[in-house]
Amino acid sequence: MIVNEEWKIKGYIDEPIPENIDLKAEIRRLCNEKNAVILAHYYTRGEIQDVADFVGDSLALAQQAEKTDADIIVMCGVHFMAETNKILCPDKIVLLPDLNAGCSLADSCPAEELAKYKEEHPEYKVIAYVNTSAAVKALTDVVVTSSNAREVVDSFPKDEKIIFAPDKNLGNYLNAVTGRSMMLWNGGCHVHEEFSVEKIVELKSLNPKAKVLAHPECKSGVLALADYVGSTAAILKFAQNDDCDTFIVATESGILHEMQKRCPQKTFIPVPPLSGTCACNECAYMRLNTLEKLYNCLKFEWPYVELDSAMRERAKLPIEKMLEISAKMNK
Ligand code: 13P
Ligand code: SF4
Repeated sequence: MIVNEEWKIKGYIDEPIPENIDLKAEIRRLCNEKNAVILAHYYTRGEIQDVADFVGDSLALAQQAEKTDADIIVMCGVHFMAETNKILCPDKIVLLPDLNAGCSLADSCPAEELAKYKEEHPEYKVIAYVNTSAAVKALTDVVVTSSNAREVVDSFPKDEKIIFAPDKNLGNYLNAVTGRSMMLWNGGCHVHEEFSVEKIVELKSLNPKAKVLAHPECKSGVLALADYVGSTAAILKFAQNDDCDTFIVATESGILHEMQKRCPQKTFIPVPPLSGTCACNECAYMRLNTLEKLYNCLKFEWPYVELDSAMRERAKLPIEKMLEISAKMNK
């Protein structure tokens, strides 16, 4: 198909949606017609999660992509997630409704800078968080997500010299729980870095019985106040299984959609940002996925993700290594 030049500049398709259509039903119809599967991250808008075939954290999304027999994968998440799918499924079309859906954490680790750092520290292994570009993954020994980071780090000998990139908060947390002193890249996520100790203390005093749940991308002061630290999937599971009925949630507020769905009788309080006036507890990149863009990208099969084949092959190795370790963890 011919890609409209205006779409290329915008990074998404903004063709008007036909009037009087049931957008969600049309999206499902296109999925059936084209043998497409919609994968969505927990941080996307509720209406996107509701129309998806599968909703999960970044590890579950990669595992799901690896096993799908669909011809088209629509990744409602951010760019690195679509790249991960393309690396695992090179023969499939991988669509991302808006190419502008980046990630501040992935951006904090440019591949050229990591390559230079590696050259300066040739004796170090590199462990990279999945929130990195394909070019960065191609430079690493193994990838981790927040669901399996601890086990992957533990799989290395105790005296192994390791560079952990790019999230310094997750790296600090891993150093603390594994007793290591990995060298940390100085990167961070603009959403998780905003959660403040003051706001959590304030919420705790108003809700003394509530438990605090935090994603390990939060700063150490926030993690120190948490009753439970885990990936989005782990936080969800904890909220479901724990007896407590009120939770203060220090991660992207999109996750409250699934929390409320799974536990309608429980109360979830999102930690607001320090200023209280912005929507900093929402990932602006994740919110770029809208039903309209999803419909248009399925209809026109654009924007899709493309990767250089040599880079894709090299980036596949550390992802496969991670998936292998994760599969062993679940046995
Ligand atoms: P999860 O690995 O918990 O899905 O987190 C991904 C992410 O982008 C967190 O900001
Ligand atoms: Fe990236 Fe942060 Fe958004 Fe997660 S929440 S996708 S780490 S910018």
